[in-house]
Amino acid sequence: INHLTPKTRREILELLVNGLKRLEYRGYDSAGVAIDAADQKDIAVLKRSGKVAALEELLQERSVELSVEESVDSHCGIAHTRWATHGEPNALNSHPQRSGEDNAFVVIHNGIITNYKEVKTFLENKGYIFESQTDTEAIAKLVHHIYHQHKDYSFQELVEQVILQLEGAFALCFKSLYFPNECVATRRGSPLLVGIKTRRRLSSDHVPIMYTNNKATRGVVPSVPRVNSHAHFEPEEERDVEYFFASDASAVIEHTNRVLYFEDDDVAHIKDGVLSIHRMSGSSNDPHEREIFTLKLELQQIMKGNYDYFMQKEIFEQPESIVNTMRGRLNFADGTVTLGGIKDYIPEIKRCRRLMLIGCGTSYHSAVATRQLLEELTELPVMVELASDFLDRNTPVFRDDVCFFISQSGETADTLMALRYCKRHGALIVGITNTVGSSICRESHCGVHINAGPEIGVASTKAYTSQFVSLVMFALVISEDRISLQKRRADIIEGLHHLDTKIRQVLALDNEVKALAEDLYRQRSLLIMGRGYNFATCLEGALKVKELTYMHSEGIMAGELKHGPLALIDDSMPVMMIVMRDPVYTKCMNALQQVTARQGRPIVVCEEGDAETMSLASKSLQVPKTVDCLQGVLSVIPMQLLAYHIAVLRGCNVDCPRNLAKSVTVE
Ligand code: G6P
Repeated sequence: INHLTPKTRREILELLVNGLKRLEYRGYDSAGVAIDAADQKDIAVLKRSGKVAALEELLQERSVELSVEESVDSHCGIAHTRWATHGEPNALNSHPQRSGEDNAFVVIHNGIITNYKEVKTFLENKGYIFESQTDTEAIAKLVHHIYHQHKDYSFQELVEQVILQLEGAFALCFKSLYFPNECVATRRGSPLLVGIKTRRRLSSDHVPIMYTNNKATRGVVPSVPRVNSHAHFEPEEERDVEYFFASDASAVIEHTNRVLYFEDDDVAHIKDGVLSIHRMSGSSNDPHEREIFTLKLELQQIMKGNYDYFMQKEIFEQPESIVNTMRGRLNFADGTVTLGGIKDYIPEIKRCRRLMLIGCGTSYHSAVATRQLLEELTELPVMVELASDFLDRNTPVFRDDVCFFISQSGETADTLMALRYCKRHGALIVGITNTVGSSICRESHCGVHINAGPEIGVASTKAYTSQFVSLVMFALVISEDRISLQKRRADIIEGLHHLDTKIRQVLALDNEVKALAEDLYRQRSLLIMGRGYNFATCLEGALKVKELTYMHSEGIMAGELKHGPLALIDDSMPVMMIVMRDPVYTKCMNALQQVTARQGRPIVVCEEGDAETMSLASKSLQVPKTVDCLQGVLSVIPMQLLAYHIAVLRGCNVDCPRNLAKSVTVE
């Protein structure tokens, strides 16, 4: 929403579409936009299924009727890129959704409304006719219904009444014909922020933000906002600002690096250049002020540079990203490790009953990868849990548990719900995230930022290795004063010191991996086996292959081979095996022999120069040796590269695999 300089409609549309492109990694099955129509008496809603580029073409085709060269002083436009939850991805189901044919209210939504059927039935009984299969359409129609009952309400009051009726998760942005140049946004459970761009660099106190609240009352009642005492700003400042509501900072970073994160049930309203943040509950002496953060994120970090795909760039960034994870934390000279974000909680953690590591997808795999080392160095029981299953089981959690929530985005709904569950049970909450200001980050008692830099490719790569290294550093911190573990700790610290150089050596295998991909890409299936420290590599490798190439792939615990998977082995089934010279080497060699005895022709990932292992392999990839518990950081990289090359050879969209999204903010 713009109050800074006059803009043409073309500029407004470009701004919205560029923002969507930066968010496209979060959902990309359809996209839409709403702006004021040329006569300002109507709202133009344009939507198309497919990627944002398809919407861009539509806007191009309609540029004359949209009078794109006409300039407007202030304007509110909204746009959305979708990852379907309710209703197939077609233009009708994409957002903005509307209240009726006149587009009086339009809304965009991330999340799921769980009681939408009740709301829909209520509105259908009032005569509303629904055109889409989405839950979101009920919101657009509900705000319209409330408006016609309470014409004296402000836009913000209307939205307040709407969200009182909604259950589930949402981040919403509303635009209305009845409230030109105003925008209302709110959230519960799904992320939402506002980027603030000012003509002059105003100090936080002078950014025109007003905090208001009133007593919570359920039902349709007028609210009485109370302006708090902090609302002093000069009138000219009000015209000096441009606001960008977004679900992710990457959409706004090219305009401003100053952002404010909303909390659940904040209702944000922009009118006449002033942002007011309203809470329905709370007292007048609770000003609920929100900090304005200055982000370090830079545009170039979210661009592809010379790479063909974000994922490829992110794989090749790993020598630097793991160094950034360790920067300022690991002192290689004296062997000390400091994690500033948890240091005050170390005594409490050392006294705990057990550690629980909880996450989804790749983040879960980083917990599997480091579990053994955590058990060894902390001497505590360690549980690793998939967030969804953990919640399904109503897992017992106690006040003296320490629960880690591992999440690249910090917004994954399953992980966030598990966090809240553990918090309710009184456990200590530790967040391990890559996104400063994310929900998991804000709701944790303490935590570690993995500092891997923005990850855009839907399939996670550099976040995995940085999560891995973060958890290893945590194990080192907890074992700092254990005399019997000093030699082991020193070896690991030495291993971490040289890890970036060794990652570079692994990345140099790229052409070899590509040749292997050429052999494999027409196959229907790929089994990946291993055990011990490298079992997680198998799970993560198989996940990468599945999500990027749509080929069936399975990570198999080598110890379980004889209990079932061996039946799959013959001379044509592609099998990979991770075999390192670690404590399970002999057992891995047994498994390898069981495979070759059944005419299997395994491809082996092993340590450099390991002739004995290679003698049993049909092909091999050799990675440098490091400390056993860090070997997984190196062995996963050929798997990332393999999935990448197979995907390219199969013509798949590497950065946006079908049906997936980077940040899954629905349960
Ligand atoms: C999605 C992504 C995965 C990711 C998982 C957990 O499914 O496609 O790549 O591993 O979410 O995401 P998080 O942001 O919590 O690490």
